[in-house]
Amino acid sequence: MARFILVLVVGLALLTWAVSGVVQTTVREWFERDVNSRAKLVLTGSRQSIADAWNDPVTLNRQLVSLARDERVMGAVACNTDLSTRSGTQGFPEEFNCLAVGSRVRAADPVVDVVNGELHEWSTIATLPTGRVYVSAMPISIQGQEVGFAILVHDLSYIDRRERTAQTFLIVVFCILAILASGIPLLAAKRARSDWSLELRGLLHGKGKQSREFQPILSDMRELVGRMVNEREDAPGQWTAERLQQTLNRHLHGEKIVILANREPYIHNHVADGKIEVQHPASGLVTALEPIMRACSGVWVAHGSGDADRETVDLNDHVRVPPGEESYLIRRVWLTEEEQQGYYYGFSNEGLWPLCHIAHTRPVFRTADWRQYRIVNQKFADAVCREVDSKDPIILVQDYHFALAPAMIRKRLPEATVIVFWHIPWPNSERMGICPWRNEILEGLLGSSILGFHTQLHCNNFIDSVDRYIETRIDREHNAVVRQGHRTLVRPYPISIEWPVRWVETAPSPEDCRAQVWRDFGLKPNALLGIGVDRLDYTKGIEERLLAVELLLEQHPEFRGRFSFAQLAAPSRTKIERYKELNETVERITERINTRFGKKDYTPIILLRSHHEPPEVFRFYRAADLCFVSSLHDGMNLVAKEFVAARTDLKGVLVLSEFTGAARELTEALIVNPYDLESCAAALAVALTMPADEQQDRMRSMRSLLAQFNVYRWAGKMLVDAARLRNQERVAGRLAEHANAGPAD
Ligand code: F6P
Repeated sequence: MARFILVLVVGLALLTWAVSGVVQTTVREWFERDVNSRAKLVLTGSRQSIADAWNDPVTLNRQLVSLARDERVMGAVACNTDLSTRSGTQGFPEEFNCLAVGSRVRAADPVVDVVNGELHEWSTIATLPTGRVYVSAMPISIQGQEVGFAILVHDLSYIDRRERTAQTFLIVVFCILAILASGIPLLAAKRARSDWSLELRGLLHGKGKQSREFQPILSDMRELVGRMVNEREDAPGQWTAERLQQTLNRHLHGEKIVILANREPYIHNHVADGKIEVQHPASGLVTALEPIMRACSGVWVAHGSGDADRETVDLNDHVRVPPGEESYLIRRVWLTEEEQQGYYYGFSNEGLWPLCHIAHTRPVFRTADWRQYRIVNQKFADAVCREVDSKDPIILVQDYHFALAPAMIRKRLPEATVIVFWHIPWPNSERMGICPWRNEILEGLLGSSILGFHTQLHCNNFIDSVDRYIETRIDREHNAVVRQGHRTLVRPYPISIEWPVRWVETAPSPEDCRAQVWRDFGLKPNALLGIGVDRLDYTKGIEERLLAVELLLEQHPEFRGRFSFAQLAAPSRTKIERYKELNETVERITERINTRFGKKDYTPIILLRSHHEPPEVFRFYRAADLCFVSSLHDGMNLVAKEFVAARTDLKGVLVLSEFTGAARELTEALIVNPYDLESCAAALAVALTMPADEQQDRMRSMRSLLAQFNVYRWAGKMLVDAARLRNQERVAGRLAEHANAGPAD
């Protein structure tokens, strides 16, 4: 724009300069011609009266004075033929006296073509100090006899004045034109820019119809904003509940979050004396997601599994939680015995759970269970759709209990953003093929917008399964699956815990915790304590863990009588045969070890088979010398992370199975293969003798990782990805609308 205006102004200046030259020459010629003919006219008209008054000096002078009365005539003079002055007006310029002009009048003058006797008419333009003058002379005759001549001097300075006026006028006109020429486009540009930015802003906020000229700039802007947002979201610094809240507000404009997860974060149960107690279930999923809901609020749709759950909900089956600091809602869904049996115990936990974990328990698939699984998925999907408050809500579907729900939700809410997180491993495609309803499972999950796993390996396994069993287009560049025009992004989001952990904040000091545990279990002052904290599940490698402790005591007599291992084992899925078996096996192994190595005042294995509330669990974490996590296969295992979080004193050693997701992050743990009992026993011995400074170094490093990679970051990343996806979909939607509406005007 500035360049255009510069060119315009320079062009106008050149034009004005050229025009003013032409105007000046033309005006001057006009005036000179005008003066010439005026002078001739004046002299010719007065020739007779001058001749008549020639011999009367008074009348002659009056004649000359009357000639010079014209303001443009400087003076007139009458000259005799001998070039003497006969009469003249005052102020006649001396430079053109009779003598000076007479010689020219007598000579032939090329300018003058009229010849009269010996004297000629003559005229010239001369410059005096006062300005230019036009001098004209004309012979005077009486009865054909030349008696002299008259000279008239016209002042031409007015022509110069007029030229200057004309030039000034032209310059003024030029300036006005230049101002207009630059001002009008500037104003127009400013106006256009403000209209343009208003329209663009509107389009970026999803309002208005997109015109074609905005398409490239919109996509550039979105890319730029996306890059800036990426940089901002990826900016270093700790993720906190507040940062997650801000991220949510920035990207999702306060939209309500709805979580669908089978397990509820607060279970109401009857206890003695008709009282109702609130229980925190032993669940990695709940550990991770509860802080997210505290930060973001919204609704958590879950199975109402507590025996006092119905008594604590309102008419809409809602209950406000957390108790005492209510910030979000649980929406309880009720299941019949038959539904629970088929959906939860049957298809979810006898089918999908062993299918997805390499733990050598054979999956069982029953048609009746599958039927209930479908019915219950639909029931939960309907409940979710009733909880949302817009046509494009954000719904977080959790885990293997709800593989069909994403497609069911999408059917009812095509514009919803459905984020699925699969908390357990995804098997390789060959193993997935075992499931008779593998295609339905895959198609159900592909109803989601984003599908998250803990690791890239599980993402790859999922994509391979899709590739192998159903008709889709796989976009390997973007890790996405496109089915019937719908795109699902498949991404790794390793889950974590809140930081800081609220149970740690309120826990007694590690010394006090140790003293309490020592007192409760009658441990000797020099005793060493190892702990395991799990649901009683065959994937957790509890049998292997106990066998490794047995081997340690066998191979290292120095630990007999000193080292005890406390296993906190929360009963889980107890109606399933395999879990009953596990319970019995664990009990049997415990008894054997305790018989083999125990003494009156020494119990090698302390088996605590009951639910433990988080404060109790954290008391053990803070008291122990080591924590042994020996899962045979585990998506993540948050117990490992909780133990590290609990050790504010930087003491204690984590012995961690290489088959957990956590082992990829907590590399300063002693990493073991739980199938290799010898190496596990050796790792336990190393842990029990590890110098304090090495314990501190390892703990410090793992704690700094967890502080950074906490669950707020996990949720933040997923929600930011969802927000980006929503923006892209909005733009794509508008482009499609635009294309349908035909070409822009
Ligand atoms: O991811 C597996 C999971 O759903 C976790 O949330 C939790 O550790 C456990 O299983 C809970 O099991 P359940 O809800 O059957 O008690």
